[in-house]
Amino acid sequence: MAIPRKSLAHVAASAVLASLVLLPIASKNVGAQSPAVEIPELPPPTAGSFSLVDHTGRSVTDKDFRGAYLLIYFGYTFCPDVCPTGLQAMSDAIDLLGRQGDAVQPIFVSVDPDRDTAEVMADYVDFFHPRLRGLTGTSEQVAAAAKGYGVRYFKLYYPSFGDDDDQGDDAENTDYAVSHSAFTYLVGPDGRGLATFAHGTWPEDLAREIRRHLDTAS
Ligand code: NI
Repeated sequence: MAIPRKSLAHVAASAVLASLVLLPIASKNVGAQSPAVEIPELPPPTAGSFSLVDHTGRSVTDKDFRGAYLLIYFGYTFCPDVCPTGLQAMSDAIDLLGRQGDAVQPIFVSVDPDRDTAEVMADYVDFFHPRLRGLTGTSEQVAAAAKGYGVRYFKLYYPSFGDDDDQGDDAENTDYAVSHSAFTYLVGPDGRGLATFAHGTWPEDLAREIRRHLDTAS
């Protein structure tokens, strides 16, 4: 199929124009690395042991996952946007890996066990990836799992007005958000922490780093 001469000329003109416009900006950055595409290097996670309950109600420990690469994220289902973004990036990264992604088990650990029951987790993980395992447990189990990964979290109660019924930080009050660290962790088949990814890491960058680890291992 012939490409109309006019549009070719237009493309050429646009390219010249673009290079003229971009040249002064680009030349400023010669020799310097663009901070926009650089992934911050974070220390790998401590990847401690855990004993939790999965979204089907089954008890699981870290030992049950030996032999698989784990992509782990700690958060909570009521999270307005940080967790959904992180879990979506994780899921997209696994899909980007294609067949290689089968070696990676995505895991979402709740830091809000009071509200995130196994049933709530089951509904939630479904939104993101068919293989995403949701883990929760008692407050003590979750606290121990989080500590093992150096994850920090705390409840932030919303101010309530007028009505005295639902105030204070007692177990009855469900009017809260959970502030939590939002890293994605890659753990090796031997249970050793391999990489920590900052919140906001693009799925493509996640996939590339995971692939690097998978390739060096095989
Ligand atoms: Ni969150």
